[in-house]
Amino acid sequence: MCGIFGYVNFLVDKSRGEIIDTLIDGLQRLEYRGYDSSGIAIDGDKKGETLIVKCPGKVKALKEEIERLGVERSTIFDSHAGIAHTRWATHGQPMVSNCHPHRSDPDAEFVVVHNGIITNYRELKTLLLSKGHIFESETDTECIAKLFKHIYDTNLKAGFELDFNELIKQVLYELEGSYGLLVKSKHYPGEVVGTRKGSPLLVGVKTDKKLKVDFVDVEFTDQQDFSTSFNQDLMGHDNLRTSQSRAFLADDGLPMPAEFFLSSDPASVIQHTKKVLFLEDDDIAHIYDGELHIHRAKKNAGDSTIRQIQTLEMELNEIMKGPYKHFMQKEIFEQPESTFNTMRGRIDFENFNINLGGLKSFINSIKRSRRIIMIACGTSYHSCLATRSIIEELCELPVVVELASDFLDRKSPVFRDDTCIFVSQSGETADSMLALQYCLDRGALTVGIVNSVGSSMSRQTHCGVHINAGPEIGVASTKAYTSQYIALVMVALSLSNDSISKQQRHREIINGLKKIPEQIKQVLNLEDKIKQLCNDHLNDQKSLLLLGRGYQHATALEGALKIKEISYMHSEGVLAGELKHGVLALVDGQLPIIAFATRDSLFPKVLNAINQVVSRDGRPIVICNEGDDVLSNNEALATLHVPNTVDCLQGLLNVIPVQLISYWLAVNRGIDVDFPRNLAKSVTVE
Ligand code: UD1
Ligand code: M6R
Repeated sequence: MCGIFGYVNFLVDKSRGEIIDTLIDGLQRLEYRGYDSSGIAIDGDKKGETLIVKCPGKVKALKEEIERLGVERSTIFDSHAGIAHTRWATHGQPMVSNCHPHRSDPDAEFVVVHNGIITNYRELKTLLLSKGHIFESETDTECIAKLFKHIYDTNLKAGFELDFNELIKQVLYELEGSYGLLVKSKHYPGEVVGTRKGSPLLVGVKTDKKLKVDFVDVEFTDQQDFSTSFNQDLMGHDNLRTSQSRAFLADDGLPMPAEFFLSSDPASVIQHTKKVLFLEDDDIAHIYDGELHIHRAKKNAGDSTIRQIQTLEMELNEIMKGPYKHFMQKEIFEQPESTFNTMRGRIDFENFNINLGGLKSFINSIKRSRRIIMIACGTSYHSCLATRSIIEELCELPVVVELASDFLDRKSPVFRDDTCIFVSQSGETADSMLALQYCLDRGALTVGIVNSVGSSMSRQTHCGVHINAGPEIGVASTKAYTSQYIALVMVALSLSNDSISKQQRHREIINGLKKIPEQIKQVLNLEDKIKQLCNDHLNDQKSLLLLGRGYQHATALEGALKIKEISYMHSEGVLAGELKHGVLALVDGQLPIIAFATRDSLFPKVLNAINQVVSRDGRPIVICNEGDDVLSNNEALATLHVPNTVDCLQGLLNVIPVQLISYWLAVNRGIDVDFPRNLAKSVTVE
């Protein structure tokens, strides 16, 4: 995931070398979040010159690049602002031109680092191109840098020399999407503005003397005389500034030496200072002359008028995982957000439209194909199984789902008029990559559904969809599954977008998708109940069965894989219809069984299977919809209620309890959840 770091020193002498080291160190503390390139922007030797160094690869490579360029290290700056970034590609592959910081023009009048996605960047880019700006990257971020210059120049021409925070307010007015943002400019030397919307940003403050205050006032634009603040002729720069709160003055009223550390993650600030202020969405932090000001465009009723400066007492390791004990748990709990990010900018919920930029020009070719072959491994294979039926239903094409290794072993026939969809979190899995090569060699159209932008699969497929779930660190795949699932449903929807007869179904599914992030949040509330269930009934078991049919067969298989993989307990996902053909022999009063009995057309058949279990003394754990009590308390070991959604989306909610069960089983058994034995996150061997 992208990371932001900024460092501002005021009346504290620092050599350029020390500033670089602080920025590099800040970036290294963000490395654990996953990234593919990095960069910094600092002051150059000449007045107003900005030096940008950036490169793909590790932060170490950036450090080497700075050395290779022979960047002078000894110049002393008593005041300076530097910004830095680790990038996890979303727009454009990891290459120098796409790395941050991005500049407004060859003179780098404005430089920007950004986390998040600007959803209207295409419109902005078109506008800025028409005004003569020349773009150097494929990123959405670059339009922010250009917009700064454009608005700055326009104001200047009109005779307004804006304060940095007034300028950013005008820029933000034009931006849609999510962002954590830092901006530095030669027009505002030694200053930084930063803001956030849906992406975290905090400011650490370090002073020699104890801070006199533990809060900063919020300055609301609509309470200022905005007309005069715009006009420097009427109201001098200094006038405007002195009228606002000055949090960091010494007793004698003079500015005191101060250092500021801006970051998307406290992990990179904590070694410098424990005094931090977390920005809220739409806050603008403006740092200059040793002062930190927080601005907001508008005051709504109930808005707090201050931001607390908190003292962080956390250890580094705790910060990286937030309130969670493991990355896997963090990733399970990130799913309301990650599923939302998969849909962001791609579904128009009002007009029921789907726009997958990466598939647009291939939709007709896919529709004309003779069949769809979905190919993947492990959890990614399960997301194919989970969505196969809705793809068949909406696209009216035969769909086969293949495990990559088996597909290759069989040398399965592939033709030029086949569309092969490859699904992978890492985009590097060897079996899937070999299968991709096999299909490319045979002339099939290949589509990737991939999390890692710039991965081999994302590059080598003809087209595809990035699922935008953010980096997944835990070996057990959780949030990638739900995002792959949603991406595949979106593919099915876009392949059938113009079918009148499917319109009603489309609307039903799109309405369902809209609610999914919120519904996942509700399911996550089951964690305490699940912990209890594991303690009371599952910790000491040797084996566990999961029963599901129709859409829930994939959920049963995925649940079983999670349980095996991290708790080392034998577990099997069984198609409920197959129970009577053999598996029933295992059922007795001891074997724990999880049965998925949420409402869809197969619900009566699932009830039959559950009754077969109960009549053999089995006491299943039932996962069903709220309001349904499929079995009495005596018959069921436990009932876990999940919200109801459209049949083809129900698996997105049903999988959450089994992710949590596998997690707590593993924790209770003392297993290193994020790194289970014998397994690797990315399986790059055959
Ligand atoms: C773009 C942004 C995305 C943003 C969205 C809406 C990029 C890389 N992505 O997504 O972050 O949410 O606009 O604003 O700019 N591709 C493959 N194989 C794959 C995956 C992708 O070839 O496995 C190709 C696609 O065909 C496309 C490009 O990579 O040409 C980017 O794909 P994707 O990120 O899904 O495109 P958008 O949906 O336009
Ligand atoms: O990166 P991929 O999605 O291609 O990985 C495929 C499997 O190796 C992966 O899903 C594996 O099964 C997970 N560890 C399961 O949690």
